[in-house]
Formats: sequence, C-alpha cells, structure tokens
Amino acid sequence: MSPRQTLAGKRLLLIVGGGIAAYKALDLVRRLKERGASVHAVLTAAGARFATPLSLAALTGEPVRENLFSLTDDARMGHIELSRDADLIVIAPATADLLAKAANGLADDLASTLLLATDKRFVAAPAMNLRMWLHPATQRNVATLVAEGARFVGPNDGEMACGEFGPGRMAEPLEIVAAVEAALASPTAIPLPAGVGVRASSGPLAGKRVVVTSGPTHEAIDPVRYIANRSSGKQGNAIAAAAAAAGAEVVLISGPVGVAFPAGVEIHRVETAMEMLDAARRALPADIFIAAAAVADWRVAAPAKGKLKKGANGPPRLELVENPDILATIGGLGANRPALVVGFAAETSDVVLNARKKLASKHCDIVVANDVSPENGVMGGDENTVHLVDAKGVDSWPKLRKEEVAGRLVEALARRIGGPVK
Ligand code: CTP
Repeated sequence: MSPRQTLAGKRLLLIVGGGIAAYKALDLVRRLKERGASVHAVLTAAGARFATPLSLAALTGEPVRENLFSLTDDARMGHIELSRDADLIVIAPATADLLAKAANGLADDLASTLLLATDKRFVAAPAMNLRMWLHPATQRNVATLVAEGARFVGPNDGEMACGEFGPGRMAEPLEIVAAVEAALASPTAIPLPAGVGVRASSGPLAGKRVVVTSGPTHEAIDPVRYIANRSSGKQGNAIAAAAAAAGAEVVLISGPVGVAFPAGVEIHRVETAMEMLDAARRALPADIFIAAAAVADWRVAAPAKGKLKKGANGPPRLELVENPDILATIGGLGANRPALVVGFAAETSDVVLNARKKLASKHCDIVVANDVSPENGVMGGDENTVHLVDAKGVDSWPKLRKEEVAGRLVEALARRIGGPVK
C-alpha cells in the first residue's frame, strides 16, 4: 500500500552533503516522492563522492545540480529561482562544514549560495563524527541556525562508520520525512524586514493589482491519470514578471508547470479548471485580469476513485463535461469586473477573425491572438507571434521572445489604464 500523500504538491530542495550517510539520501528521496513531493537535488562536491548524480537524478526525476557556475543549469533555472521555488529546503546529510557555512553566511559553492539566497527555511539532518558534532564550534553554529528558524532532526546515537559510539549518525529517512511534514505545517517563508520588498514601488503599473492565469490545467481521469495540454506556462510567467517589474501587485494563478515562478509575485498553484476559477474569483478585486492559461475545455464527469484497470470490457469510455470559462466569467462580472480584461486566443486558422469573436463572446477588452499551428512551435517554445485585437482594430507584432511579448503587453495595458508610461 502506498503511503498517504502527506506531501502532495510540495516542492523540496534537497542538499546532499558529503558523508557516508549520503546513501540514505537516496532512500529519503524515494520516501518523499512516494508521499507526493517533488524533489530537486543539489550535490556538494563532497556529496558527489558518496552519492552519484545519476542515481539522484533517476530517483528525483529531475536534473541534479552541482555547480554554481553551470551555464546549462542556469539556462533552465538560476540559483535564486531554484532556492525560491522550493517550499522547504532539506539538508541530508548536513555536514559540519555545510552548517558552518550556513551559520556564517558563506557562499562559495552552489549549496551554500542557495542557503544564503533562499527565502525558505530548512530542515537539516546532521551526520558527522561525534567529536565534530560535539565541538563547541559546531554547537555554536547549530544554536545560531536554530535561533534563525532552522529545524534539526538527529543526529542519532549509534556506532559510527569510524568505529566510535555517540551522537553523529544521520536520522533515518522516515524520521526526516516526519520532520519535513512538521516543518511544512508552519509557514516556511522567511519574511523580509519591514519596508524592504521586491515589488517596484514606481513604474507604469504602480498601485495596480494584476491577476494572471497561466499554464495548463490537469483534469483527473483517475488518481494517476489526467487530461492536459502542451502549455508550458512560460508566457503567463513572463507576463506576471513584467507586470511586477512595472510596479504592479501581481497574483499568478498557475496550473502545473515545470518552469520556475518569477520572484516578487504571489503564486497560487492549482490543478484543475474549477480550482483556477475559484482562485481567480478569490483574487479579485483587481485592476487587470489576464487569462494566459490554456484551460482544459472539458473535464471527466466522474473521475474514478481508484486506478482504472485494463480488463475484459476494453478501454474505458470517458464522459466529459464542459469546464466553466474562466475568462468569460470574469469578463462578464458586474461591479467586481476588473477595468481591463485580457484574453488569449490560441488559433490554428483565421487567427484575427476568431480573436474578434472571442473578444465579444468572452467580454474582453483585448484579445492577444496567436497562431499555434504545430509548425510555429509556440506551445512550449520561447517565441510567440501575436496580434493585439480590440474593439478599435488589430496591432500585429513581429515574432518576439515571450518576455518581449510580455513587456510590450504590459506597456500597452499601462497606457490604457492611465498610469504614467515612462
Ligand atoms: N479560457 C478560460 N477558461 C476556459 C477556456 C479558455 O479562461 N475554460 C481562456 C484562456 O485562458 C484564453 C481564452 O480563454 O485566454 C481563449 O482560450 P482558447 O482555448 O483559445 O479558446 P476556447 O474558448 O477554448 O475556444 P476554442 O478552442 O473553441 O477556439
């Protein structure tokens, strides 16, 4: 029987330090994942002598990061995003060296830099020789870290690899899992001091609240299968980032995506269209609503409670029901309708014509229309060719990176909503 999904949807960043206990980190990954967590692993140079990147990558299902200055890693996710995307950081095994670096704010490799750059707390499972653990320097570092909100699990007493007996053995994987669950029961974000914020206080959207939907939705067929689409969330993320950079207070409601969320934005993770609609309603009132999500048009009428089995009856027949249209719902609101409602129209033919129809049927002020024919590579790609369609006409933009589309769109919205455009 698989364990309860006590960590469903939780994103963990696991730092694996050097030490013979690193082998237990592999079992820890398995235990965390079978409880529903996603795990990104970072190996220190010493850690890589005890656990291989390959085995960690195979178990986490994610690339393993080892270097601070890896161009290929950074192209996917920089170290700031990597640490901030996590709900919690887990250090197992936590060596005396890693704890000393964390307590003193050193940042000379990827693991220590992540610990300094993160906005999340960590759970550490120390493992080291007992004299190293009992050394006043280590005990001082631990006391500092605990005072700053870190949680420790272990070390346990026992026979050590070096033959001595005493405290120093890493806690068992299930003990670490329990510590992770306990840590996640309280807020894990480390607040910034009052008056310091990541949001720009000036800019063309200063003082405005912007709600963005983004990514695909997943509609369950049974507990393990779902209906989805190819949306990557890149365009929605880029819009949220551009709006935040323009000074707006941004709420990003995102379906399941594999890309890191921008900093300085309030994130609401959802799975289904129904959850996305609910989150969108709750995010109001807002000045601008941008529906960049590729919402599944249909959901399974009655998802199976247990996993569907192959059998004599042949393939199951799925009965679908239509999902609510989030954009049309928000666009059609009365008093609570945002001043600007922006929709996207993903089309494979008659792009502008279809966008005009959506402008009316979904009660939008602007429709950003794009051609998603497979040969354009827009779905999941980094570029987009869009047409801004409103009641007055069409503004066609050249092929641009999704970040540039986002920047231009935010500028266009700022012009309409009356803020000073710089
Ligand atoms: N949209 C939404 N809720 C839905 C479906 C779509 O909010 N249930 C929004 C999308 O976020 C996008 C716009 O509606 O801003 C257009 O979505 P699109 O898939 O292009 O249009 P559909 O309404 O699905 O129409 P069709 O596929 O039939 O052209």
